[in-house]
Amino acid sequence: MFGWIIPPPKPSKKTKETFYHERQLKVAFLKQKGYLKSRIIEKAMLKIPREHFVPCSYRDHTYEELPFPLPGKNSTISCPHSYPMFYEAIALSSGDNFLEIGLGSGYGAILAAEIVGPKGKVTSIEIDHDTFLYAQERISKFEYPNLFLIEGDGGKGYYPHAPYDKICLTAACVEIPPPLIDQLDEGGKLITPRSSSRASQDLVLLEKEIGGNIKVITIEKVLYVSLQGEYGC
Ligand SMILES: C[S@@+](CC[C@H](N)C(=O)[O-])C[C@H]1O[C@@H](n2cnc3c(N)ncnc32)[C@H](O)[C@@H]1O
Repeated sequence: MFGWIIPPPKPSKKTKETFYHERQLKVAFLKQKGYLKSRIIEKAMLKIPREHFVPCSYRDHTYEELPFPLPGKNSTISCPHSYPMFYEAIALSSGDNFLEIGLGSGYGAILAAEIVGPKGKVTSIEIDHDTFLYAQERISKFEYPNLFLIEGDGGKGYYPHAPYDKICLTAACVEIPPPLIDQLDEGGKLITPRSSSRASQDLVLLEKEIGGNIKVITIEKVLYVSLQGEYGC
């Protein structure tokens, strides 16, 4: 699926302690590879149990660099390295008003809520009803009053909480949806996978400078599910 070989589903046997040990090793690996740099993102990745967001039948593979299918039509929980890769690029930090398009498992949203802290706010939108219910159930085990889950088309953004300091799309667009650029604050950053052809996607970082000028740079090649909805592929 999506260019990765997913291991066959099987019941989870690992203990909480084993998962915590694997989480520490993964964080050390991401630092060594240069994906993880800031202490605030490192602390959040050590704190949040990613295994809680991975479906039971794939849970023992939680800390491998693999995406796993979620309930819903085209939903996955992304590879572990993709979270610091996105969040470091936009410099997600304490106090940010953050918008995520593509809630998926809820892991990225919880990580972000931990990073922005009580002075920040996270709004995450999911278009697939079954995926939304899955994430909502996972997230209900945590207490993050600064995290808001919205079911709908994230390409349109969410005006009631705009303007945003940082925006992240976790599904690949062809053109960055104009409402998202409109809802990004001046000085804000948006990151998204963008399809450059049928077979290739670039991870691009958009910065809205003070005064409104837009600057876009390409970071690297990636592989993500396609954005759906009004601005979908
Ligand atoms: C790679 S997955 C998200 C991974 C997620 N951030 C996580 O931590 O598990 C991409 C998600 O984007 C969702 N999606 C696609 N188009 C969307 C849209 N227009 N609005 C909101 N969600 C969308 C898909 O249903 C899928 O769940």
